Amino acid sequence: MPVPEKEKVVVQESQYYMPVFTRQPLVIERGRSAIVTDTDGNDYIDCVAGIAVNSIGHCHPRLVSAIKAQAEKLIHTSNLYYTELQARLAERMAKLTGMERLYLTNSGAESNEAAMKLVRKVTGKKGFVSTKNAFHGRTMGSLSVTWKEAIRKPFEPLIDGVTFVDYGDVNAIAGAVTADTAAVIVEPIQGEGGVIVPPDEYLAGVRELCTERGILMIADEVQTGFGRTGKWFACEHAGVVPDVMTLAKGMGGGFPVGAMMSRELYKFAPGDHGGTQSGNPLACAAALATIDVIESESLVEQSRYKGELLKKLLGELEPTYTIDIRGKGLMVAYESSLPVPPIVDYARANGVLLNNTSENVLRFVPPLVITKEQITTAIAVVERAINVYSR
Ligand SMILES: Cc1ncc(COP(=O)(O)O)c(C=O)c1O
Repeated sequence: MPVPEKEKVVVQESQYYMPVFTRQPLVIERGRSAIVTDTDGNDYIDCVAGIAVNSIGHCHPRLVSAIKAQAEKLIHTSNLYYTELQARLAERMAKLTGMERLYLTNSGAESNEAAMKLVRKVTGKKGFVSTKNAFHGRTMGSLSVTWKEAIRKPFEPLIDGVTFVDYGDVNAIAGAVTADTAAVIVEPIQGEGGVIVPPDEYLAGVRELCTERGILMIADEVQTGFGRTGKWFACEHAGVVPDVMTLAKGMGGGFPVGAMMSRELYKFAPGDHGGTQSGNPLACAAALATIDVIESESLVEQSRYKGELLKKLLGELEPTYTIDIRGKGLMVAYESSLPVPPIVDYARANGVLLNNTSENVLRFVPPLVITKEQITTAIAVVERAINVYSR
């Protein structure tokens, strides 16, 4: 009998791939909209979206045709030359964010790396204030402002001068700022930390404090950007424009591309920063197509009302096991008194992909194109899982 595809992949990977990921036991072969299909032909409603990446759904036809068309024309040139796509994307992003300057990257960590270098350069200062439970990436700079000790400690010494303060508390930031603080780096809603929504006045307070004390505000919108929270960018909920904004995840609809945006005042000089493959034409074409789809299909609005439905349905689950339901748009957490890994396993066995940020928190970040019916089906499966595991 031939070895099933799944077993072959698992054996091959465990022999040759760097063992950094704890994977769920399925091999995904294809995707369409909010559904993915594994190598055994099973379909799943995807409530993970590649961790908030497949914003416009899997293989959106307009994204696919933009990538195909660009691949036939030009894939890479380096940044020694201009491309029309990069210039067009820069203008588009400036208009979307209300910020003036774009630098393109390939990931969220790289966007934060660029941001950290930029604020050091323009302020001449070295320190950062970050927040407890923050996640900003795994490169040396971005890891330095990431909270979790277990992932930071083995790689020390990281960069100096980082202070972590309670998330949601502007006074805590005020108390941590020194004469050498370059910037505060903050997620508008903490993602990996378990979808933590700060008090309403928090971001505006951070903005005001930064302006008053002459330090820069970096908003890490890597997870919250591109409609995820029911606004194009989550800072808009608070009416705040940061000095620097970092982006990635949903920006390319699944194609790896990220960005650092800054105000006109805060610019690198030629030679300060760069990347051979950053902003390559294929990535730019993917980002432009993704933005077009978000706009033309009103996915920001969809994120808002589908998120409300998701929270409503979670609110109807057996209350005995519900500790909290929180989030904005289609970035929602369900915190349970039950351990949630068995719920993730049950859901997968019953056609729904879920993700948990900790032992008790399920995080829902589905494609923004998920249908109301798919949301209803997914939560019905969660309900069945709760019934099974609470017995
Ligand atoms: C808020 C935030 N910043 C940065 C990152 C790092 O992004 P990447 O994994 O693309 O490097 C993540 C990833 O989860 C994130 O959620």
